[in-house]
Amino acid sequence: MGPPGAGKGTQGELLEQHLDAVRYSTGDMLREARRAGTELGSLAQTYMDAGELVPDEVVIGVVGEALAALSPDASVILDGFPRTIPQAEGLALILEAAGQRLDAVVNLVVPEEELVSRLSGRRVCSECGTLASSDGGADGTCAACGGDLIQRRDDRPETVRRRLAVYLEETAPVLEWYADSPVDLLEIDGTGSVVEIQERIRERLTA
Ligand code: AP5
Repeated sequence: MGPPGAGKGTQGELLEQHLDAVRYSTGDMLREARRAGTELGSLAQTYMDAGELVPDEVVIGVVGEALAALSPDASVILDGFPRTIPQAEGLALILEAAGQRLDAVVNLVVPEEELVSRLSGRRVCSECGTLASSDGGADGTCAACGGDLIQRRDDRPETVRRRLAVYLEETAPVLEWYADSPVDLLEIDGTGSVVEIQERIRERLTA
């Protein structure tokens, strides 16, 4: 968990490799649905472009389906889900029905001015959605597929402001919900280098 630009995707990807886990980013799943032109994608588009959350029942359905398709011993990282209390409750029900549990909730803490600066500088591939690393993409093309690098539509300044407000209204309360639950809530300083932050996460997960 963490606000927009906190590094959920960046850190989630590294942790996915380290733990040999499956990572589900609801943002990536919805963007992929948009690229594929599915019904889900067109439904999600208006919400995403406005910086609003896609309705809970839709997102819970998408995650529930993805989890149901996995083998019971798979390790899973959920990136950007749950983002509302109804989503946290929905996830708890899905896991309970499957006899599974959350090991930990990792929350990346980053000051707002740094979030805004990271998001304004982010570039992604228009073809495959890959995030351009901060030191890469100098020629404006994707290292993975050669597609053009562009700014994400929801990284425009006015939409970033709305996403941050939605985070405070809808998602920050989920952290309190987990703090009152038996699940370990790990607050991680999300500033510094990508490698340093990854080390902090791994240390806390194994502590
Ligand atoms: P989503 O894609 O999840 O967006 P988000 O939560 O706003 O998060 P971001 O992807 O912007 O940031 P991140 O924390 O992953 O950071 P990243 O690693 O990319 O969701 C998009 C939309 O989909 C939502 O607004 C909503 O509409 C919908 N949606 C998704 N999930 C939903 C849900 N559960 N319910 C309802 N709707 C949902 O890093 C950001 C930038 O910073 C990058 O450029 C990166 O290179 C850079 N960076 C990362 N780490 C560092 C560092 N340590 N130092 C400097 N730069 C860094």
